Amino acid sequence: MISLVTGAGSGIGAATAQVLAARGDRVVCVDRDEAAARETATGVGGLPVTADVTDPAAVEAAVEATVRAFGRVDAVACCAGVEVNEAAQRLDPRVFDRVLAVNVTGSFLVAAAAARRMIAQGGGRVVLVGSANSVVALPGQAAYAVSKGGVLMLGRALAVDWAPYGITVNVVGPGVTDTPMSAGSLGDPERRARLLDGVPLGRPARPAEIAEVIAFLASPAASYVTGAFLPVDGGWLARG
Ligand code: NAI
Repeated sequence: MISLVTGAGSGIGAATAQVLAARGDRVVCVDRDEAAARETATGVGGLPVTADVTDPAAVEAAVEATVRAFGRVDAVACCAGVEVNEAAQRLDPRVFDRVLAVNVTGSFLVAAAAARRMIAQGGGRVVLVGSANSVVALPGQAAYAVSKGGVLMLGRALAVDWAPYGITVNVVGPGVTDTPMSAGSLGDPERRARLLDGVPLGRPARPAEIAEVIAFLASPAASYVTGAFLPVDGGWLARG
């Protein structure tokens, strides 16, 4: 398969590129960080593309580059995302806008640019990355929780709209995962203990454990799964 992964320069996106490449996909590694995209692409024998997912022209160019290089695009995994770390910024409207722009609009732009090609091809797979916080709001997370709730509904809405074209759309909901995004929280013993306290499996996910689920949803084996929200959270949501 020909797969495009955003946020491929780090964490869950990098792991997804690795899992997809290991199963034989040709992988296009998209990130706004040029060096990071190149590093992942080099590691997986893929094509690096520098693009900010909030820029429609850059997203279109990334999908164009995919089709130019490989002739088609079978799957996209929208892993690019941001969280707000500074408490002082959490009430800043510009920060709120940026989190929604990257997490929600960015996912939409990538999915839509790919879907235009997938419709012409007769089908495809779209996997969005929400969060366990798509359905639970934690203190201090208004922008992030709203964005991830938006990703969940985006996945459902697109699944309904694109089913007639043979395109499946699903949302993965990672729990706390050991990536650069969560390094600050997991590196602080008190915050780490608080975060993991409600996780029945008692540890953060490894990025590859999220990537394996994304890869399944981006495979032919998931042909009858669409509009699903699949938590990969060590049981956190089940415990309530
Ligand atoms: P990360 O920070 O390790 O990697 C994110 C990547 O996305 C980086 O390479 C970054 O350069 C890229 N990126 C950010 N904004 C971009 C933009 N506008 N355009 C293109 N690339 C951009 O983060 P991680 O942990 O791998 O997160 C991946 C996804 O998983 C995010 O959507 C995040 O919200 C979600 N997630 C992560 C969890 C965690 O505990 N790490 C938990 C739940 C969800």
